Amino acid sequence: MPLWSRLVARHWREESRGLLNYGPAAGYMPLREAIAAYLGPSRGVQCKPDQIVIVSGTQQALDLSARVLLDPGDSILVEEYCYSAARAALTGAGARLVPVKVDDAGMDISDQAASAANAPVAYVTPSHQYPLGVTMSLARRLALLDWANRTSAWILEDDYDSEYRYVARPLAALQGLDKSDRVIYIGTFSKVLFPSLRIGYMVVPPDLVDAFARARAAVGWCCPIIDQAVLSDFISEGHFTRHIRRMRAIYAERQEVLISALHREAGDLLEVSRTDAGIHVLGLLPDHLDDQAVAAEAAELDIVAHPLSVFFLGEPELAQPGLVLGYGAYNVRQLRDGAIKLASALKKVARLSRSRDSRTLRARSLIA
Ligand SMILES: Cc1ncc(COP(=O)(O)O)c(C=O)c1O
Repeated sequence: MPLWSRLVARHWREESRGLLNYGPAAGYMPLREAIAAYLGPSRGVQCKPDQIVIVSGTQQALDLSARVLLDPGDSILVEEYCYSAARAALTGAGARLVPVKVDDAGMDISDQAASAANAPVAYVTPSHQYPLGVTMSLARRLALLDWANRTSAWILEDDYDSEYRYVARPLAALQGLDKSDRVIYIGTFSKVLFPSLRIGYMVVPPDLVDAFARARAAVGWCCPIIDQAVLSDFISEGHFTRHIRRMRAIYAERQEVLISALHREAGDLLEVSRTDAGIHVLGLLPDHLDDQAVAAEAAELDIVAHPLSVFFLGEPELAQPGLVLGYGAYNVRQLRDGAIKLASALKKVARLSRSRDSRTLRARSLIA
């Protein structure tokens, strides 16, 4: 924070006039240059600075993509467990969501639902599927790119948190593997820095840059120049990579603490696995437990746990019950306390569900 405020003060002192006017709709050029220089080595994204469009977060990137690439009523392929805010942006623009199967290797474009849909766009989270947390395999990435190439479709690649990767080096982004300019890569500073900044970026194929810049202008022109200028210094002066390195170690420890605390407190009811990236884990519940009831019970104890079933777009009875648990914003002590509270919410719901089941059994035996 003191560093950020120093950078803000320096800009107002040195060039306040330039900060008062509208900036370019596609974004402040030094920031676009800094992002392009960062993306190559860190994410395998191949682009020139003028392919980058600065936006107010992923949310706006999805809204612009729907405006530019879709007509109302068009289908869009999405992962069957899908980020709710993406769903809101895409359906808000009139798109019809077509859920496609996801497994341990990510979205499977060979799913019958995908081929039947004739969709001009697919939205995916290949680096760290939200909410399941899996990474799309190289074979699935190549199959998805092949589908886009064959059908002249676009892929929206949402890479929201893969800066925080705890195992081997990340797989190259779809954008970097794409030989036919079919991928629109979307990045954000919400997870890697802070969400109130409301700055993200799109890397768009050269032929689409003008259309996206015009759409960006139509929805509020540009992000505040002062924030773009400060962020650009933050990246180009090396603070950003230092921040990622420091936070990656902190988040790895937080994940470890949360998983072992949940294992200790509620291992019989919640199966939490380690995640290779990001700042949330997924805990699976036994099939008979209602994840929305657990989340409501946890909320009574001030614990935020997102029920997995609400992200599922298929038939509701096929949804796997589970809890999506973010750990980025809590220290180690809060995570241990949180695990104890969550365990008590889980045990309460399990108790209630057991007594309901035994009442049903008793009633059935009376009827028989
Ligand atoms: C899948 C996914 N994409 C993107 C984001 C970030 O969105 P934004 O950049 O609009 O803050 C999130 C935040 O939770 C997310 O879960």
